[in-house]
Amino acid sequence: MDCHDAIFTRRSCRAFRSQPVEPDKIKRMLEAALYAPSPANKQPWEFIVTSNPKYHAQIKAAADATKQILAVRSGWKWLPVFDISFLLQAPTLIVAIGDPSKGGAEQFLDDPSLGYLEACSTAVQNLMLSAHAQGLGTLWFSLFEKADVRKIFGIVETKDPIGVICVGYPERTDTIARARKGIADKVTFLD
Ligand SMILES: Cc1cc2nc3c(=O)[nH]c(=O)nc-3n(C[C@H](O)[C@H](O)[C@H](O)COP(=O)(O)O)c2cc1C
Repeated sequence: MDCHDAIFTRRSCRAFRSQPVEPDKIKRMLEAALYAPSPANKQPWEFIVTSNPKYHAQIKAAADATKQILAVRSGWKWLPVFDISFLLQAPTLIVAIGDPSKGGAEQFLDDPSLGYLEACSTAVQNLMLSAHAQGLGTLWFSLFEKADVRKIFGIVETKDPIGVICVGYPERTDTIARARKGIADKVTFLD
């Protein structure tokens, strides 16, 4: 699949088939992630891959509890009814973890950016585009307290679990992209 086709046809997937994902496809996705750019090439990412239903159930239970708390805090009416059973359906979960100690020179700026987080985000995008190019669906899930994910997956306090990526064959795929604002709204060209 051409790079632009992959970018423009990828969709977040929230309904997965039970069919397992071939290990070679997961490996290819991870290789794509590891080829992402990062400040000073520090590669501040790590990934945990699991297809063990025990972990799916634990993250779903934690996220359900978090969702109820957030529903109260935010007052958002869609939150309590937001169905996150895709966490159980997706045959494979990939936890993307950032290492805040692995920043580049930007960490010494007066107003430093989070280089490790920016780099991890590019890695996850590579991962998701690779999945899509191989006929798989993904969802970047972030509705969790980091403490819960650290506990479930045995991640040390100093590392930052930035996302749980659900991976599997899509049960259905949106053909129409969710609306995006265009260049006129989002881009300034300066002469
Ligand atoms: C950092 C990040 C966190 C996200 N967290 C969630 C999430 O917790 N639950 C969810 O259903 N979708 C989540 N999404 C997916 C977005 O809702 C989705 O990308 C957006 O609506 C655009 O739709 P598309 O991915 O199909 O183009 C997340 C996406 C990103 C980039």
